[in-house]
Amino acid sequence: MTAPYLLSVPTFRDTRGALGVLETPIVPFLVKRVYFIYEAAEQTRGGHAHRELQQLILAPAGAVSLRIDDGGGREFHFQLRTPTEAVHVPAGYWRELKMSQDAVCLVLASEVFAETDYIRDYEEFKTWKLSLS
Ligand code: TYD
Repeated sequence: MTAPYLLSVPTFRDTRGALGVLETPIVPFLVKRVYFIYEAAEQTRGGHAHRELQQLILAPAGAVSLRIDDGGGREFHFQLRTPTEAVHVPAGYWRELKMSQDAVCLVLASEVFAETDYIRDYEEFKTWKLSLS
């Protein structure tokens, strides 16, 4: 299973400003859904894992801090503070995120919304991960 990783968003800068681009193959899956979270200062969002779905998470504005774990003791921490970086979260990882007051968290997802793909209970997540190995 691949681990979560930070990637650089190709960015074109000139006197008019900056333009970031996300496309294949930098985005390592076909995007079926885009959603964004905002007005979530000091809240913990996420608190779940996905069975199949992969995500790319960005902070186009403000700061987003991400804590990700594999249910087996391996943790990953990312601080997104610039639109030039994104985090790829493969399927099968628990994630929690916190946002600054002004933050917008943009999520590109490999699947349309399906509650059946979510695991929202951490003990259930650990059991499911163990069953895969
Ligand atoms: P939720 O999964 O709790 O957000 P978070 O990622 O912070 O844990 O989603 C909040 C609500 O929005 C929940 O009722 C499900 C709904 N929702 C959709 O209907 N479609 C979507 O694409 C997403 C991401 C959420």
